[in-house]
Amino acid sequence: MSSTLYSKVVRRGKRFHALLCYDETVRALLETLEKGGEEVRLAQAIDPGRLPAHIAIIMDGNGRWARRRSLPRVAGHPAGMRPVRTAIETCGQLGIEALTLYAFSAENWKRPKAEVEMLWRLLRSYLRSELPDLIRQGVRLTVIGRLEALPGQVRADLAEALRKTSQNNGLQVNLAINYSGRAELVDAVKALVKDAQDAARRGKEIEIDEAAIADRLYTAGSPDPDLLIRTSGEMRVSNFLLWQIAYAELYVTDTLWPDFTRADLLRAILDYQKRDRRFGGLGAHAPRPVPTGLRDTLAEAGVVENIVEPALVESLSVPTQ
Ligand code: FPP
Repeated sequence: MSSTLYSKVVRRGKRFHALLCYDETVRALLETLEKGGEEVRLAQAIDPGRLPAHIAIIMDGNGRWARRRSLPRVAGHPAGMRPVRTAIETCGQLGIEALTLYAFSAENWKRPKAEVEMLWRLLRSYLRSELPDLIRQGVRLTVIGRLEALPGQVRADLAEALRKTSQNNGLQVNLAINYSGRAELVDAVKALVKDAQDAARRGKEIEIDEAAIADRLYTAGSPDPDLLIRTSGEMRVSNFLLWQIAYAELYVTDTLWPDFTRADLLRAILDYQKRDRRFGGLGAHAPRPVPTGLRDTLAEAGVVENIVEPALVESLSVPTQ
């Protein structure tokens, strides 16, 4: 995530002001938003220094969204594609490191065959139509879950998308497909036992600690989610990233997934930024100063929107001769 501080001198009227600014984080997002709208207000309130590194989303409520419109429940899934695009685009613009989307749980096989097949068709069509855009945005696609159980064509399309985005260094979009948190732990334990047996054959022992398990999860190498969002109001974690969400902040909204907008995502991030994350300890992690005030004046002056500390800005201002 990029949030380096830098200084910048701007002229306001007859005075020059030395500003301490965050870098381009948030600005990339602001530039794409319609001026004066709710999204701009929300984006401007975001503290670029306290963004979650990793957001995970349980995209729930597609069926109910369709039912409320007297449509067959499967009609909710294509409607759930727009918020997928918006979430990816917004997280990318904010410089967030990883976004994990729960697209198909291991339990979803229990659904009618026609619905499951529709979800595979939808995933394939998404990969075909969105891949150029994902590449343009610098997205690196990864997948977690027991992929061997997926239809061959789905696996082939996923493999191609993974290959074509593997060199990108923007947002990591991690699709959870045929994913189960418990199955992931079983797979990690199996891998650990195998590694321990291999080590024993060489007369060695391996350390069995938290890192040994984390290193054998599907998500090895990625930061744990800081923020877990669930749409459609259910207060459950539904077997999602059970190990990794140990200290995630939970955000549940009644909004159904197809209705989940950029503004909803920004609201979730703002709510997250209000939380005091103690990780079992007592003291809060010292937050970076919240950028407040002076935004209108600075917008007029064409300066980046996020100021570290207005008082500091004023104290640094120097009159021109
Ligand atoms: C839950 O809603 C949603 C799913 C099981 C599928 C999620 C899939 C998508 C949003 C589209 C595909 C995604 C990608 C990344 C290509 P539900 O059907 O359980 O809704 P309900 O609880 O109202 O019945």
